[in-house]
Amino acid sequence: MKLPSTTLALAVAQLVTLALGAPMIGEETSTPLDVQQLQVHTQERIDASSIPSRYQSTLLARRLLHLSSHGDLITVFPAAGNLSSRIPPSVASTPIGLPEYIATCEEESGHAADPTILSLKISTATRNAEAGSNATLSLSWWDEYIHRTGRAPFAPANLPRLSLTGYLEEIRDEDSPARVLESCFLKKHRDSVMWLPGRKWAAHEGVWTRLVVQEAYWIGGFGDKNYIGWLDPEEWRAVRREEWEDVRLPGEKE
Ligand SMILES: *[C@@H]1O[C@H](CO)[C@@H](O)[C@H](O)[C@H]1NC(C)=O
Ligand SMILES: *[C@@H]1O[C@H](CO)[C@@H](O)[C@H](O)[C@H]1NC(C)=O
Repeated sequence: MKLPSTTLALAVAQLVTLALGAPMIGEETSTPLDVQQLQVHTQERIDASSIPSRYQSTLLARRLLHLSSHGDLITVFPAAGNLSSRIPPSVASTPIGLPEYIATCEEESGHAADPTILSLKISTATRNAEAGSNATLSLSWWDEYIHRTGRAPFAPANLPRLSLTGYLEEIRDEDSPARVLESCFLKKHRDSVMWLPGRKWAAHEGVWTRLVVQEAYWIGGFGDKNYIGWLDPEEWRAVRREEWEDVRLPGEKE
């Protein structure tokens, strides 16, 4: 991994401490530590309990998934020996992320928390998955925040984002019938009618897949007011629709 220059790293560190209200690097902290200040710090710790819990954050994360219509799907190219000749050898074993349409169309099948994807057989992600790659979906609230509020956020870094890691799996018709997937997916992506799986006239052959989510990593926003960390996979899966319908992401109307 290439690291930024020391100067840049220092500047970033100073920005972060500034954002968190901590003393600037090189600035004197007040000494000796007096009791009053200690009490202020303790009070701040208590106020920190207003940070959403992991479970509340899981509800927000599930809401973010359900409201998202696209995300970056990341897969890893096969090792050099198994790389197709059309692909530059230097990308062997390297992750590649590309935007992908998503929806959540499996409310009825026990996979409500796994994103639905229309995987085209020619797509890089599908080929990598077929060659054994795992997959990660990266989502953010950045675009939606702008759509919903009509303004750019003061600090995008203070808005939610989510990474869902797992693997792609073909959806069997007995789990979720194709007609259910079609009507659900087309509600979000009308143009997907051009690629519906099983259609003779489809521009490209596709299959319905789900990203089986094994772990979820959440950044709610700045860490002084938000949960940042891994969610519990059991909790992630168990969240009911009424629960995520009941919470609001930043900029949403009550
Ligand atoms: C190529 O793929 C085969 C089958 O998936 C696997 O057994 C083999 O180890 C792979 N070779 C390399 C160099 O990764
Ligand atoms: C995919 O992830 C699993 C763990 O969930 C791991 O055991 C497996 O080796 C990974 N596959 C590849 C190709 O890296």
